[in-house]
Amino acid sequence: MTSYLITGGAGFIGSNLSELLLHENGSSITIVDDLSMGSVSNLPRSNRITFIQHSITDHEFMSRLIRENKFDYYVLLAAIASVADSVDRPYETHQVNQEANLNIIETLRQERLSFKKLFFSSSAAVYGQTPEMPKREDQAVQPLTQYAVDKYATERAIINYGRLYDMPMVCARFFNVYGPKQNPASPYSGVLSILLDCLTNDKPFSFFGDGSQTRDFVFVGDVVNAISGLLHTSAARNDVYNIANGKQTSLMTVAKQLESLTGKKLNVSFKPERSGDIHDSYADTSKINSLGFMTHTRLEEGLAKYVASA
Ligand code: UD1
Repeated sequence: MTSYLITGGAGFIGSNLSELLLHENGSSITIVDDLSMGSVSNLPRSNRITFIQHSITDHEFMSRLIRENKFDYYVLLAAIASVADSVDRPYETHQVNQEANLNIIETLRQERLSFKKLFFSSSAAVYGQTPEMPKREDQAVQPLTQYAVDKYATERAIINYGRLYDMPMVCARFFNVYGPKQNPASPYSGVLSILLDCLTNDKPFSFFGDGSQTRDFVFVGDVVNAISGLLHTSAARNDVYNIANGKQTSLMTVAKQLESLTGKKLNVSFKPERSGDIHDSYADTSKINSLGFMTHTRLEEGLAKYVASA
């Protein structure tokens, strides 16, 4: 029996990952999620999933859970997941995105617990507005928001723990993930889920800026394949990998693609750029590609699957 702890497992990426990991024979998955963004309805029905509604910022609770269960794999996805949200809640972001994760790795270190791999989700936001494109893992970083600072600091702490205390750790910098189960309910949701929601439910959509900003939109199915690959490949250890599609697309272009897929016209307005936002971003994916398991669903194909799932 292989046991997984997934923090944030009822969220968008975590629930897609749980579905994938359940395909492994005899896997058992424990999910800790405070349901601030996620939902139990995202989770596949299975007696191999244990769901616990709790905040990872309860250090005592998390340490006890880890000591008592000694999981094989740890997947740390719980986060204040939006850059804009972190600009509104900087200290809370720090408590969730950094302190809570440090408590988990410190528990593993102090208790000398052996485990197979720990995965942490860092972010493309760490690259900031640096001019180099595409973004490579070894280029300079420029964390411009509390979100990016905490993602970068936690990523470094985890890799350093791995190296200093011989713990099997791996981190990935997610670019803009989209696909089924992304919750459009909050203004802090990913832009593609908001766009699709506006199109399907005839709501108005606002571009922050002129829509010329670019992102590297990566399909969630590719992201969970990559996470599983990083967990199960011993070569991926104490290092960080971009998880992206490797293509740059403007927001305006993707909005037009969604219009043609849904056969509907968006009701748009233009607002000032959001504070803390970066203008352009896309990834060099050669480092993860060299491990041989990253899939790259084309945007048109991924969007079509997303629209079909809505
Ligand atoms: C996203 C992720 C973040 C991840 C980062 C990696 C979300 C919520 N955030 O941040 O977790 O670390 O990518 O690069 O998925 N926009 C509009 N109108 C809207 C909403 C957004 O114009 O109603 C614009 C934003 O101003 C931004 C772009 O769309 O320029 C993308 O925004 P968003 O989907 O929130 O993602 P990021 O901020 O790139």
